[in-house]
Amino acid sequence: MNNLSTKHLLGIKDLTADDIHLILNTAASFKEVINRPIKKVPSLRDITIANLFFENSTRTKLSFELAEKRLSADVINFAASSSSVTKGETLIDTVNNILAMKVDMVVMRHPNPGAALFLSKHVDAKIVNAGDGAHEHPTQALLDAFSIREKLGNLKGKKIAIIGDILHSRVALSNIFCLQKCGAEVMVCGPTTLMPKYIQSLGVKVEHDLRKALEWCDVANMLRIQLERQDIKYFPSLREYTMLFGLNKELLDSLSKKIVIMHPGPINRGVEITSDVADGDQSIILEQVENGVAVRMAVLFLLAGRA
Ligand code: CP
Repeated sequence: MNNLSTKHLLGIKDLTADDIHLILNTAASFKEVINRPIKKVPSLRDITIANLFFENSTRTKLSFELAEKRLSADVINFAASSSSVTKGETLIDTVNNILAMKVDMVVMRHPNPGAALFLSKHVDAKIVNAGDGAHEHPTQALLDAFSIREKLGNLKGKKIAIIGDILHSRVALSNIFCLQKCGAEVMVCGPTTLMPKYIQSLGVKVEHDLRKALEWCDVANMLRIQLERQDIKYFPSLREYTMLFGLNKELLDSLSKKIVIMHPGPINRGVEITSDVADGDQSIILEQVENGVAVRMAVLFLLAGRA
């Protein structure tokens, strides 16, 4: 199979297991390319891509831009805070004005869940969801799956614990869909108040004791508390959260086996993870960032139909 079953990348929920394997295998080829002295290939020459960021980003924005440039695409960048959106322009008007400049693909991050799906129904371009509110962050899940596969050989039968603010996390939802489609077992761990009510229906294990989750898993993916999405208090204090759900070196070293530590970033050092764990030899956090470029190259290349 050389083609994806979807025209857009709106979420992992829409992908088949074959789609995911195709993206990961294509990303492996691109990883080899970006480690060559000449890192650029002409695969997306004549394709124009607009990166539309209506919400802050460091990793995803830079990673997409680098992926596009490595593929020789023409790139335009848009940040809502410095645009006419602040004068009241609608999302569709903004995007149609950009498309009038002959843009082929749109990569969009937006604070509203469903924004990428909405856009895909109203404009004539390939849409890549770079994170829509607390809904999905498909390329993060794909780069996480790629990084686990690279570290552990494969995903089938592997035990992955996703730990922290599951309720507000688009990374958690996309990871659950992606890991399950790849045959991994998934556990979520965090305070009861930060678990969505529908969590049991996703077929994951639920644990509220951090040590038990860490003893169970091969990989722990530590998530940030998303204070910017919390309009009420979900736990008494950050200090108490850290005492119950923060990962430190003493706890990590006391486990009966060595596990792999991941974090999608941005990290709140000293809250969900201490610096010695984040920067330690069991952490693959920077490998995740490196792999993000290859995975995003694969997604753009496959969606452009250049396979
Ligand atoms: N992981 C992630 O999406 O990071 P940014 O918000 O910096 O893009």
